[in-house]
Amino acid sequence: MMKIDILTLFPNMFDGFLNESIIKRAIERKLVSINVVNFRKYSKLNNSQVDDTPYGGGSGMVLMCEPIVSAIEDLKDDDTTVILLTPQGIPYKQKSAMMLKEKKHIILVCGHYEGFDERIRNFVDMEISIGDYVLTGGEIPAMAISDSIIRLLDGVIKEDSYVNDSFTDNRLDYPTYTKPYDFRGMKVPDVLISGDHKKIEAYRQEESLKRTKERRPDLLD
Ligand code: ADE
Repeated sequence: MMKIDILTLFPNMFDGFLNESIIKRAIERKLVSINVVNFRKYSKLNNSQVDDTPYGGGSGMVLMCEPIVSAIEDLKDDDTTVILLTPQGIPYKQKSAMMLKEKKHIILVCGHYEGFDERIRNFVDMEISIGDYVLTGGEIPAMAISDSIIRLLDGVIKEDSYVNDSFTDNRLDYPTYTKPYDFRGMKVPDVLISGDHKKIEAYRQEESLKRTKERRPDLLD
């Protein structure tokens, strides 16, 4: 079973994520184990302090090395991948999820506030960004990354639900339809009700490529 440890100062942010739908079911079925840890408990200072003002001046508070590094050292073994969430990390892609799903144990480190002491970088294996925008902390990125990995784990969802996913072959998804056949004059394409599976597959491949060319030509480069 894959193990994910999440280091955060705001464990309650994960309540909804862990207790609904597919993620909840994956945990109940022991396909993944998720351990949300408040790294404040690793502080050795008064009032469990975890941050302080930056050397050299400037605004905001900076997360200190000790609590985060102690937490990492307490939780990791020799088969652990430690990941720091930061806008400065490598951009996260579907391919990254496919790589991470093979790991036995990952630790996701969520920063918050202005940032963290630079020296923390020496204790992580990789840094990931989920996009070129800045969030208030790494919690939502940790959820996004965990979610994208967990749905790929064996037995979590049916394999045909993700072999055709957007991005899997650098292509966006093809369009899908369900009942009714006619919604306000907009009809389902004839080929989909033809019953000809070869033709349907060809139509879907064609639409997938067309959509990718129109919307995300960068994926085809
Ligand atoms: N923390 C704040 N913004 C982030 C982002 N875009 N990706 C990863 N971690 C973050």
